[in-house]
Amino acid sequence: MLKRIFSYILPINILKKKSAFSKSLEVTWANGELVLDSANTNYSYGSLQRILRKGLQIIGFSKIVEMEHILVLGVAGGSVIKTLANEIKFEGKITGVEIDSSVIALANEYFQLNEIQNLKIVIDDAFEFVLKTKERYDLIIIDIFQDTMMPNFLFEEFFINRIGFLLKEKGFILFNTMCLKESDNIRNEKYVSAFNKKEFVVRKIPRVEQHNELIIVEKTKNPN
Ligand SMILES: C[S@@+](CC[C@H](N)C(=O)[O-])C[C@H]1O[C@@H](n2cnc3c(N)ncnc32)[C@H](O)[C@@H]1O
Repeated sequence: MLKRIFSYILPINILKKKSAFSKSLEVTWANGELVLDSANTNYSYGSLQRILRKGLQIIGFSKIVEMEHILVLGVAGGSVIKTLANEIKFEGKITGVEIDSSVIALANEYFQLNEIQNLKIVIDDAFEFVLKTKERYDLIIIDIFQDTMMPNFLFEEFFINRIGFLLKEKGFILFNTMCLKESDNIRNEKYVSAFNKKEFVVRKIPRVEQHNELIIVEKTKNPN
């Protein structure tokens, strides 16, 4: 309780560790809230949670609550999953895919992610998972970072087509990206044009909390 109060004045770090995938995972009290950070960016809760919440609000909480199955690529501390479960009261299935088992151990210990009954966590590379899955999803949330770096596969045509295919008709993709330099803006423009086919509608929400840009894709119908 004291740590929480003091954290309004100065952040209080309570854990710092390395993992096989991350050179630093940090659990910190900041502005009265427990957050998970990597070496150079916020991974879960805090601003990251606000960014994805904004995307979910644009899609519409009332639409999301009616969905059957949501796929979250990149789980970390699970803040978007908490928004789905606690704020939106989503009771359908949530599958969360995370490459780093250490981050899930922290999510369970510090953020009680394992108390969410309708959540199944898969420890896997998101690229591999997306290739293997036989399911179709109403909403695919893509939030994959290695510190501030976004892996290239996310922007490759193969992955884009596969994600589009896994989406049910009237389904949505919510993609969190970081734009730190001009080449990142160009990369995002290309991504949007790759989805600009007749069965998709794409929107960009720029400058959500400084460097993040959200891309929201809606699949209006299945291709003939
Ligand atoms: C910004 S955090 C995710 C935050 C989370 N969506 C939330 O709402 O709190 C990014 C996560 O992506 C994970 N990640 C990085 N590369 C991955 C990959 N190829 N497959 C699955 N997860 C990956 C990282 O380990 C990290 O936990």
